Order: sequence, then C-alpha cells, then structure tokens
Amino acid sequence: MTASHEPPRHVAIIMDGNGRWARSRGLPRSVGHRRGVDRIHPVALACSRRGVEYLTLYAFSTENWRRPGAEVSALLRLLATMIDDEAKTCLRDNLRLRLVGTLEHLSPALQDKVRAAVALNEHNTGLSLCLAFDYGSRDEIVRAARALAADGVAPLEVDERRMSERLFTAGMPDVDLLIRCGGEQRMSNFLMWQAAYAELYFTDVLWPDFGEAEVDAALEAYAARSRRFGGLSQGGTH
Ligand code: IPE
Ligand code: IPE
Ligand code: MG
Repeated sequence: MTASHEPPRHVAIIMDGNGRWARSRGLPRSVGHRRGVDRIHPVALACSRRGVEYLTLYAFSTENWRRPGAEVSALLRLLATMIDDEAKTCLRDNLRLRLVGTLEHLSPALQDKVRAAVALNEHNTGLSLCLAFDYGSRDEIVRAARALAADGVAPLEVDERRMSERLFTAGMPDVDLLIRCGGEQRMSNFLMWQAAYAELYFTDVLWPDFGEAEVDAALEAYAARSRRFGGLSQGGTH
C-alpha cells in the first residue's frame, strides 16, 4: 500500500494525437495514423523489457465510427495491412497479440485476418499486446450483462468476478497504469471497469512521437504513486 516498486503488470494506453501530429506538418490525418502504427511494436518491446505483462492499446473506439467515411476506411485498411506484420513480429519477439473488442462490424476477410493473426502467437509466453479495436467500455459491459442473462445466472449470483469473466479482458489483471498521450485528460470509454483503481498518467506528447523515453517517464511517475485501493497506506497515514 506504499509507493509501488514493482512494475505495473497491466499498462493501458490511449494512443491519441495522430491527427494533430499530421496536421502540424501539413500532412493528411491518415499519415499520422500510419506513423502511429509504427510506434506500437517499439512501445510494446519497451514495456516488455521493463517487466510489464499486459499492454492494452486503444486503437479504434466504438465512437470512432462517427468519423468521416474516408478516415474510417483508412483506419480499417491500416488494420488490414499492419495485423499480419505485427503478428509475425510478435512471434519473433515472443509477444502475444490479442484483440479486445468486436470483429462483427469488419468485413469477413478482415475478421479472418485478425483471427489468424491472434492464432499465430497464442502460445507465446511474453507480454500480451492487446489491441482494442471497435472497443467501448459501455458496449463491453452491456455484452457481459447480456451473456450473464443468457447463461441464466440468477440476479443474486451476479457479482464482480462473474462480470469480469465475461468482459473481453477475461483472465487479465486490472489495469495498474492508464496512460493518455495527446494532451486530453479523459477516458473516452476505455476500460472503465478494468481501470477502476488504475493510476492515471497524462502527457502532451502525441502518439506518433511516443517512445521509450515516454514509457520510462510514465513508469517513473507510477513508481512514485502511493496505491491505497481505499485503505490506508503503511503506517496509517497518507
Ligand atoms: C488517435 O488519434 C487515433 C484514433 C482515435 C483512431 P486521433 O485521430 O484521435 O488524433 P487527434 O486527436 O485528432 O489528434
Ligand atoms: C480515443 O481517442 C480513442 C482512441 C485513441 C482509439 P479519440 O480521439 O477518439 O477521443 P476523443 O474523441 O478525443 O474523446
Ligand atoms: Mg483524438
């Protein structure tokens, strides 16, 4: 219950700022997204080397479908082009690529691609790299509630453990450290259940500029935090 000397087991990042990164250079937003994708593997490796076990990256929210059609199409194309390569690189580096979110709004071909990518390294034992795509916390919680009802779980048997087991993150630990880059300070419907006691870290650095130094800064800030989970810190004072 004092400042944490252990690295966070589960880090989550809201990868924000791709559009502004591109705009400030007079480039189309899609270039910012492409540049953002290139940051994923280096950041995953940096986290892995520092002892993080789970890294969940917010790539596309349930609300991002509201963006102009051309941008949504560009993001879907980017998923299609990056997923095979990323799965192969994860295989090489013993990272386990996973998906958190739904596939149902993607084309059947893209769904197959994503499933194949996830299957390719399901036996890897290193850091789990969880890509949150078409993900929204409220959608996830509604789906979990529906699953409990469909399983015939009685109202009094509904508890936190059973809910957790029906979330996309079933079997994963809660988020210890939630990072949002890009300057905004909000959750934007990301891991609201899992991050209930996460330490929050905000930085103005835009995602396409995010790297090892930013990971270290966030982990350093985390190490200095006193996590109490509603109790008292050692010695009974704050
Ligand atoms: C984050 O960058 C990527 C996605 C949400 C898909 P943005 O596209 O939100 O970039 P900004 O916030 O407009 O700069
Ligand atoms: C959050 O970023 C979603 C992702 C990073 C995928 P947004 O740019 O969509 O969030 P808002 O609209 O600023 O809250
Ligand atoms: Mg944004």
